[in-house]
Amino acid sequence: MEFPGSGNPECGDRRQAARRGTPHGCYVLSMARNRVLLALAAASILGAQGAATVWDGIYTEAQAKAGESLYAKNCASCHGKTLQGEGQAPPLAGSEFLMNWNGAAVGELFEKMQTAMPADNPGSLPPEQTASILAYMLNAGKFPAGSNALPADIEKLKQIRFEPAKGR
Ligand code: HEC
Repeated sequence: MEFPGSGNPECGDRRQAARRGTPHGCYVLSMARNRVLLALAAASILGAQGAATVWDGIYTEAQAKAGESLYAKNCASCHGKTLQGEGQAPPLAGSEFLMNWNGAAVGELFEKMQTAMPADNPGSLPPEQTASILAYMLNAGKFPAGSNALPADIEKLKQIRFEPAKGR
């Protein structure tokens, strides 16, 4: 016969605990541990989503420069010399543009440009040129340049989001 408490005082027999009708210490502890694990998992998912924004220096100055002449040649006729928009063609920088895209992934914008623009010859530009034009648009929109060029890769660009302001 065992005396009460002669077994493991922390983690005794679960059946015994259930019989006593009180939540056993070990059970409570493991619930707490599960909650911590869940919280950690949630935090890492959020962390991954919040990883990159247009404020993180996602294109290079050189790329924006290359995009400037490509824009002039392929887009300015409709969207205007200073990206201000004209008639049916919306602006591609500034507050109205940002209202359309805030919270969206840069990859969505890239996809739209790559597949639907230029509207008079959709899909005619190689992805690298679209990336350069996008860099030019970001530069005109006063987002900072960085040391890595914007990739012409939709999946990568989908990891980067438009955010209203620095600091999130
Ligand atoms: C023939 C005129 C024309 C040309 C050239 C043109 N666009 Fe457009 N673009 C439009 C029109 C009209 C719209 C609005 C309809 C739509 O969203 O499809 C538009 C929409 C867009 C949008 C969506 C803007 C938003 O906020 O929803 C982007 C981005 C864009 N154009 C980029 C470009 C780029 C980059 C080029 C050059 C490679 C280009 N366009 C060339 C006419 C043009």
